[in-house]
Amino acid sequence: VNRQSHRKDEHVSLAIKFYDPQSHAGFDHLRFIHQGIPEINLNEVNLNSHIDKIKLDFPFYIEAMTGGSEYTKKLNQSLAKIAKETGIAMATGSQSVALKDYSLSDSFSIVRETNPNGNIFSNIGASLDVKNAQKAVDMMDSNALEIHINTPQEIIMPEGDREFNWIDNIKEISQNLNVPVIVKEVGFGMSAETVQLLIDNGVKNINISGKGGTNFSKIENYRRKEQELDYLSDWGQTTVESLLEVKKAKVSNDVTIIASGGIRTPLDAAKAIALGADAIGMAAPILYSLIKNGEDETIKFINDFKDGLINIMTMLGCNNIDDLKQVKMLVDSQLQNYINQRNIPY
Ligand code: FNR
Repeated sequence: VNRQSHRKDEHVSLAIKFYDPQSHAGFDHLRFIHQGIPEINLNEVNLNSHIDKIKLDFPFYIEAMTGGSEYTKKLNQSLAKIAKETGIAMATGSQSVALKDYSLSDSFSIVRETNPNGNIFSNIGASLDVKNAQKAVDMMDSNALEIHINTPQEIIMPEGDREFNWIDNIKEISQNLNVPVIVKEVGFGMSAETVQLLIDNGVKNINISGKGGTNFSKIENYRRKEQELDYLSDWGQTTVESLLEVKKAKVSNDVTIIASGGIRTPLDAAKAIALGADAIGMAAPILYSLIKNGEDETIKFINDFKDGLINIMTMLGCNNIDDLKQVKMLVDSQLQNYINQRNIPY
């Protein structure tokens, strides 16, 4: 087994080892106001949403995780079956390994083989150029490309990148690829400044992937012999803080905002949408369910998640995702303090 493939297997086993069903992404600092007479029927609620020009039947999808080894090929196949069965979109993990070693590409292309008509998103690191970006898309005939930005993870990885001049590259890929490009974090969140920089460079789709779920600071630190960078385990903005940061940037209506990081329940998802997200990515909960409980239970988990979101939207009197995006929530004093210090218009 080559070293890169081994790392992919380790990411899976450590994400499962550290998995916490409780979210720490800040949703507890927000609450909806109950509306006793919502004047709406459950069967009138519509969950359609979109990422860029891609239409989604449901506003959540399986976020980038894996591929690049024999074991993760099987996982990608199962995830693709689950995505097909539930009609949700799916991203694979970073394809960078398969661009370096093409013999690993079947651990990604299995996703398209399994789900020929589904929405599939490619994933690469921000240091790869536009030619490699196009190769990643071609490998799975993908509907979109995710570029991940992950400075703390690279810094903590002994074998990680040490050069982070990414923005010109991101701009070039965003302008020249034949499918929508999403720039995503991996669980450290984004600031208003980062969001603004991306938008000023032509990025149209942003996944703020915040702190509070899968923690790559912990995972990479655990992979080091001495866990000497443990003091970085709380680095970043939570998913809630990151969505608030977006409100401070000048974001036009044609920009898609995606939330991920610690979304664990339909209530978390509803709150993320009410903070402005058009779509939600979930990674570890789906992987955990698959590995612990199997494909059928994971399909049920996703279908229950759809129902849960419909229940909440009904109680709030929201017919569709755009309605939910307009709902204003109460923030507790701790989050209000963050909002004040960062001058966020909420
Ligand atoms: C990830 N994530 C990730 N992200 C990415 O852009 N490229 C990648 O290759 C990976 N790899 C990966 C492996 C595993 C095992 C997990 C659990 C996650 C990050 C993922 O897409 C997401 O941003 C975070 O995991 C936060 O979401 P959750 O897990 O809290 O729902």
